[in-house]
Amino acid sequence: MADSSTFLLIFGILVTVCHVSVRSTPLVGGEGRSDHAYIHKRAPSGHVIQAHVNANHQQNVIGSHFVGVTYDSGQAAKNFSGFDFSSRKLQNLARALTPGYFRFGGTMSDCMLFESASTSFVDECTPAPGRNFHTFTLTGHQWQALNQFVHKVGFDFIFDANDLQRTSHGDWSPDNTRKLLQYSADRHYPIAGFQLGNEYDLFHSFFGYDLSAAQLAKDYAKFQSLLKEFPQYSSSFLIGPEAAHARPDHFKNYYFSGLTSTVDDYTDVHKMDSLRKVLTEALAETHAVDPHLPVWLTETGSAYSGGTKHVSDRFAAGFLWLDKLGVAAEMGIETLLRQDLFGGNYPLIDRQLNPTPDYWLTLLYKQLVRGFHAGAVVLYYLNPNGYSVTFDFPQFTSHKRLLYILTAGDSDGLLSKFVALNGAKLQLHGDSVPQLHPLEQAAGPVVTPPHSFGFVVLPDNRVDLCRHSGELVG
Ligand SMILES: *[C@@H]1O[C@H](CO)[C@@H](O)[C@H](O)[C@H]1NC(C)=O
Repeated sequence: MADSSTFLLIFGILVTVCHVSVRSTPLVGGEGRSDHAYIHKRAPSGHVIQAHVNANHQQNVIGSHFVGVTYDSGQAAKNFSGFDFSSRKLQNLARALTPGYFRFGGTMSDCMLFESASTSFVDECTPAPGRNFHTFTLTGHQWQALNQFVHKVGFDFIFDANDLQRTSHGDWSPDNTRKLLQYSADRHYPIAGFQLGNEYDLFHSFFGYDLSAAQLAKDYAKFQSLLKEFPQYSSSFLIGPEAAHARPDHFKNYYFSGLTSTVDDYTDVHKMDSLRKVLTEALAETHAVDPHLPVWLTETGSAYSGGTKHVSDRFAAGFLWLDKLGVAAEMGIETLLRQDLFGGNYPLIDRQLNPTPDYWLTLLYKQLVRGFHAGAVVLYYLNPNGYSVTFDFPQFTSHKRLLYILTAGDSDGLLSKFVALNGAKLQLHGDSVPQLHPLEQAAGPVVTPPHSFGFVVLPDNRVDLCRHSGELVG
């Protein structure tokens, strides 16, 4: 129980219904917003940790679309194998994560060509100059199936268009994306937002193609004009440019490589903290250009190169993920899109179309941030230690607490494929997602089990941040 190795990380959310005059954000459906306040972190053990809610200071405001999901373009090259759009179970699981964004993108988006009439999903297109891997075809049939699924379950769609279609002068060629937009407009597919390209700073290593920031900016301007050609998409938002490294203004964040990381990395507070530096840099760079420009993590997760095999789809993954949700919210990130809804070693939904531990965590996060009336406080904590830690709220000692404590779902511990909520392993009820019920505690300190994380809701509070923050009152 050495003080130096004891951490309890606590974040807090104040549920408010302030009418916020938001910056020029692409947020869809802004009702029921939540203010995010960072509370307390890294306290020595051995005594009850006191968490103080600072209701006078707003760190950030998060909305219903703060957490979304990604679905990798590479899945189209596999003809969406295993992702059965018609599965009731899959539809129920996906629907439970809405509202939110569904971003279809990734490395393969820059070698995907849309051919509406094609029946074969892979073909022999000529690679662009310097390109060292083959393009593949997204068929009209595939595009239709994907759009219908996303729309049916209620996600707001973000499409990442191919930025490596180039004219002989090296400018972006919009022809293929125009075909896709025309096809989509003819069928009234709603597409909330677009991106052009994926991680342009890695084009050299992936495609042997060097793209300058100045050229990318020109490409984006051209894409914006293209969207104007389609009344249905002229007011869709365009996010980017996106980079793998901390450069303006939408970028990824992974903590480490999936090929070399181990389970210990997933509970390492120092690894968690590396995110702060990355975000500080990215926010500073972006805000130097425009202080009001929102910053997104357009594809983010635990480990790059597809995640850590047999770790990033297990209970252990929740520590990094919940910390990331807290740190991103605290630091002012507007939206994060979690890689990946399906596929890789870090899916929210596995190949049998069953939810992984991070699915349940994401679901709980989304439900709790929105599920209470104004004035309630939602706290979430991580106890990465191998022993129990206790905390309390001196401001609210006698208030009722609703506890949602997540621990490993079986004896595999951190490497469990399951997660338990208040001691009961979470499972689907047939094809349906069950209600997630709290444990009620009348008052007093909250005891967090070893290697646990979770949420404590103070539902009856009257904390009203809006009163203190003039600019928030609409
Ligand atoms: C791709 O998947 C769809 C739906 O399962 C199927 O109808 C189609 O035949 C597949 N295409 C190829 C080329 O395998």
